[in-house]
Amino acid sequence: MRLPESLAGWAAALPLCAVFLLSPWLPVLSIQYNNRYAGDQVIRLVPRSEGEVHGLRDVYQRLKVDLWQPSSMAHVSEGTVTDVHVPRNKSRALQAYLHQASIPYKVLIANLQKEIEKQSNITPSRNRRSLSGYSYDVYHSLEEIQGWMHHMNKTHPDLISMFSIGKSYEGRPLYVLKLGKKTRTTKKAVWIDCGIHAREWIGPAFCQWFVKEAIDTWQSDPAMKRMLNQLFFYIMPVFNVDGYRYSWTDDRFWRKTRSKHSRFHCYGVDANRNWRVKWCEEGASLHPCDDTYCGPNPESEPEVKAVAFFLRQHRKQIKAYLSFHAYAQMLLYPYSYKYATIPNFDCVESAAYDAVVALRSAYGVRYKYGPASSTLYVSSGSSMDWAYRNGIPYAFAFELRDTGHYGFLLPESLIKPTCTETMLAVKNITMHLLKKCR
Ligand SMILES: *[C@@H]1O[C@H](CO)[C@@H](O)[C@H](O)[C@H]1NC(C)=O
Ligand SMILES: *[C@@H]1O[C@H](CO)[C@@H](O)[C@H](O)[C@H]1NC(C)=O
Ligand SMILES: *[C@@H]1O[C@H](CO)[C@@H](O)[C@H](O)[C@H]1NC(C)=O
Ligand SMILES: [Zn+2]
Repeated sequence: MRLPESLAGWAAALPLCAVFLLSPWLPVLSIQYNNRYAGDQVIRLVPRSEGEVHGLRDVYQRLKVDLWQPSSMAHVSEGTVTDVHVPRNKSRALQAYLHQASIPYKVLIANLQKEIEKQSNITPSRNRRSLSGYSYDVYHSLEEIQGWMHHMNKTHPDLISMFSIGKSYEGRPLYVLKLGKKTRTTKKAVWIDCGIHAREWIGPAFCQWFVKEAIDTWQSDPAMKRMLNQLFFYIMPVFNVDGYRYSWTDDRFWRKTRSKHSRFHCYGVDANRNWRVKWCEEGASLHPCDDTYCGPNPESEPEVKAVAFFLRQHRKQIKAYLSFHAYAQMLLYPYSYKYATIPNFDCVESAAYDAVVALRSAYGVRYKYGPASSTLYVSSGSSMDWAYRNGIPYAFAFELRDTGHYGFLLPESLIKPTCTETMLAVKNITMHLLKKCR
């Protein structure tokens, strides 16, 4: 089910209370996805030899399963955890193969549809759509997030401004919030984006959380006060707007943008493989149907092009680039495209170390940290590498909770703890930036 654009645009212009009376049923109906995940499973296994790796790649390819972790077939390797979403009509074939090859596996989620429904337990009494009592511990649709942004822009003119940096492939505005005490002199800035990958819903939830925390605490918390006095934060809560919307309306596990470039029937480009930095080399795919498709050329995606343009224009000002993904519980820094040490390694490494210590202090949750290439895997054309190569000295990518128990279906009850601990890490990185190395 789709909300006509004209309605969305019209709704945005109305007083906000009215907007949220207009649309209460939309996500409630569409979130069930026509029961398309009934009986689907998510299984985990760890290939133990090169032979198993080759066999598994073949089967995965043949069955066209949806890889959750790692994100591409090329990264399926010996000793690496693979989580794979298996459609119900393929699970018999896959299990037969695994038995015959004696590969042990574990069922992480036995019925994906049930898990989705359990987590989107929407009741009108939760009041998730009213802006006065906007809930930060539920997931919000794109329309809700954009309504919230307009609301924040209107109600906090002293700290927040809002603008669009371009249009998505499907023509939606790419909104950014600028947060910080307004001054006449220029200030350093931090860029934060969430939702490059559509199905990683905890990202946009964190971006909203960050803004809420800043607004709620800056008067009482000296660290936040300092942050807002001395810096601007450019916050893009939903980078991949078309994909994010599609993950609400059609396919909960959609990752890419929604562009169409080829004769193939497949849509979308991986917006984290489309940047002009070793574009489409290792860890990216040239095939339009793959989840890590790098696109027909660098910055082919209007979303990537718009953000790259903005970052380039503000490169003197922006000292940190932070991008929020899920899931793995990792804090990654460059390089992603090669095994090599960055020139300001000492500064970046100590910032990462302090950040994960700070994060752990909240609930004891452990994050791995390190260069993306050796901590996660090699991938080229990423936003983080691009930001670093374009002169932003602190570039980080967070892979938020969890480590696969719920995967992309992180329950709403875990939004608050996840965002609370992540907040500590982000504040720590930001303070580091104000204090120490360049
Ligand atoms: C499995 O189901 C999907 C969607 O219902 C269908 O497109 C596909 O052809 C089916 N595959 C097999 C092997 O039955
Ligand atoms: C944000 O608010 C300002 C001041 O009210 C307004 O001029 C501006 O157009 C708003 N931004 C957006 C994107 O609506
Ligand atoms: C950052 O983390 C380090 C290590 O946990 C800690 O010593 C420091 O106080 C933290 N700083 C802030 C501002 O949170
Ligand atoms: Zn991601």
